[in-house]
Amino acid sequence: MAVFKLEKDHKKILIFDDTKEMSEFALNKWREIAQGAIKRYGRFTVALSGGKTPLPFYKSLVSYGKGLPWNKTHIFLVDERFVPHDDPDSNFGMINKTLFSKIDIPAVNIHPIYTDGTANDATEKYEEDIRNFFELKAGLIPQFDLIILGIGEDGHTASLFPNHEALSERWRLACAVSYPGAKYKRITLSLPVINNAKTIVYLATGSNKAPIINEIIEKRNTNLPVVLVKPNDGELYYLMDKYAASKINYRPENERGA
Ligand code: 6PG
Repeated sequence: MAVFKLEKDHKKILIFDDTKEMSEFALNKWREIAQGAIKRYGRFTVALSGGKTPLPFYKSLVSYGKGLPWNKTHIFLVDERFVPHDDPDSNFGMINKTLFSKIDIPAVNIHPIYTDGTANDATEKYEEDIRNFFELKAGLIPQFDLIILGIGEDGHTASLFPNHEALSERWRLACAVSYPGAKYKRITLSLPVINNAKTIVYLATGSNKAPIINEIIEKRNTNLPVVLVKPNDGELYYLMDKYAASKINYRPENERGA
C-alpha cells in the first residue's frame, strides 16, 4: 500500500516503498477502470507508453491479470520510435514481448503505430485508425479510459519534448516529432488526446527521476510537458517509489506523529 497519499493541484500523488507495491496499485486501478468501462460501454480503451519504468507493471498484468477482460480491452500506443517493430528500441516490440505475447488478447484489440513509409504517413495512418475505432467525426478528439505515461529526466512525456512545437498542437490526434539529440523520429499522441483521457497514470521510479519530480510537483515548472498534462475532466495519478519522490516534501505515514 502507498506509504503516502497527497492531493495537490488536481494530482493524486501516491508514493510506494517499492516498484512491486506501485505495480500492485496500478493493476488494481487498471482492473477497476476496465470493469467500469466495460459495464458502461462494452469495451475498455487504454494507451501504453514505452521506456523502462512501465516494465514491472506490464509484467504484473501478465502474472496477476489472468481474469482481466482482455477480449474487451483495446490497447493503443502512446507513442512510438520510428523504427521497425523488431528493432530493440521499438515500443511496440517491447510491449509485444512483455505483454501482448503473454496474454489472451485478440490481435484486433491491439492498435500499434505502424512504422513503415514516412513518419508523416505513419502519423496519418495512426490518426485514421484512432478515428475509425472511436467512430469519430473530423475535428473530434477520442477519450481513452486510461493512459499510462512515463516521465523523462528532462520532463518529457510520451514523445512530447520541452519547447517542441508539438506541444502547441490543438487539433491533430497524433504528431510526428523530430527532436535534436533524439536517435530517431517519433510519433506521439497529441496533448489534446492525452488530456481528454478519463484517467491518466504517471509511473516514475528511481532516484534519477527525483530532480524532475521536484520540478513537477514542488515547482510546477510549466515549461515541462509533464506539467502540461492536465486532464480536462479526468483523474491524474502520479505513482512513484520513494526514491523518485525523495526530493518532494512529504512525510511517510509511518513517520507521522513522530
Ligand atoms: C518512450 C516513452 C517515454 C518514456 C520516458 C521515460 O517512448 O520512451 O514514451 O516518454 O515514458 O522517456 O522513460 P523511462 O521509463 O525509460 O525512464
